[in-house]
Amino acid sequence: MADNNELIDPRRVVVLKFKAAVIEEYQKPFSVREINAPDKPREGWVRVNVKAVGMCGRDLVVWKGGFPNIKPPIIPGHEVFGELDGEPVSVYPAILDCSTGECRLLILGENLPGGYAEYVDVPEENIVKLPTREYERYAASVCGVATLIHASKIAGIRPGDSALVTGATGGVGIHGLQYLVQLGVKVYAYTRRREHNELLEKLGAIPVNDPLFYKEYGKVDYVFENVGAPVINDSLRSLKQRGTLVLIGNTEGTPVTLNRPAMIVQRELVIKGSMAFTHDEWIEAIRLVGEGRIKPVYKPYKLEDINEAVELVLKSRRVGRIVLLP
Ligand SMILES: NC(=O)c1ccc[n+]([C@@H]2O[C@H](COP(=O)([O-])OP(=O)(O)OC[C@H]3O[C@@H](n4cnc5c(N)ncnc54)[C@H](OP(=O)(O)O)[C@@H]3O)[C@@H](O)[C@H]2O)c1
Ligand SMILES: [Zn+2]
Repeated sequence: MADNNELIDPRRVVVLKFKAAVIEEYQKPFSVREINAPDKPREGWVRVNVKAVGMCGRDLVVWKGGFPNIKPPIIPGHEVFGELDGEPVSVYPAILDCSTGECRLLILGENLPGGYAEYVDVPEENIVKLPTREYERYAASVCGVATLIHASKIAGIRPGDSALVTGATGGVGIHGLQYLVQLGVKVYAYTRRREHNELLEKLGAIPVNDPLFYKEYGKVDYVFENVGAPVINDSLRSLKQRGTLVLIGNTEGTPVTLNRPAMIVQRELVIKGSMAFTHDEWIEAIRLVGEGRIKPVYKPYKLEDINEAVELVLKSRRVGRIVLLP
């Protein structure tokens, strides 16, 4: 199976040339350049014409070098929505590779060339049909919703419970919290930027801007932690006795320090990790978005303008997802 480097190897037999945004070096601007690809995908794989791809927070952790085993050059992008033989499709981004005898899970855009490109090759079994052609809306919201579907199950959260969602204006936060609201959870949505409070309220959450919000509202049963290191200690403090923090993201990719381990002991707090989503959860998220039950919040950008989009994310000047249009 090709890794990220193999597809973009200029020595390969070339028939198709297409455009892609490539991480050549961690933390350096993307290069938008032509990629040389073989004439057709390998056996059992198909070639998707990418119409829209979400810029996940996880892609920027890769770009920052937060996963040092994933080395440049890298074409990121696991939130792929486009066409296969003219039909609207998405790609479930976790790919099981058993070609070496031992099975490994490969993530599109990390261990394999991803969707920041006009075309991406994927196993046929990872193709999921889309109910409509609203590629941008799916690219904006499906990953966030699927992530929270999975994290909710890990948490064991139930209607009537309360939860804090950190990084609530991010792509995972703003779409995932809508799923929690639909479950009947009382959602506190944390953002540093008050200007987005009105939107968060419209989406059914209670916006909070102060890490000590629980002094006014009371403590919560669960935290869905999307930010990680910068806020996790405040998040733990907001939990009730025996409350659970589900760690979803660590935007800076830096080590996390527990300031008050004694508090975790005394309150018998639980910390769990939630990794990605299953194939069925991806399909469920597509269904919810397709039925209009999730409001996608996003800004579209041409693939060529990717470096402008990255700046916007790094400076926290956007709300929801950046959706790239190859
Ligand atoms: N576990 C999984 O399955 C999974 C799946 C997808 C993504 N992720 C991870 O989840 C994380 C979030 O992803 P995303 O796509 O939502 O990212 P994103 O769109 O970049 O949003 C991150 C949000 O975090 C907030 N934030 C950033 N730095 C902060 C700081 N220093 N203090 C407080 N808040 C800060 C920002 O909100 P404000 O500026 O409004 O405060 C921002 O909107 C990433 O680490 C990503 O790798 C995990
Ligand atoms: Zn994602």
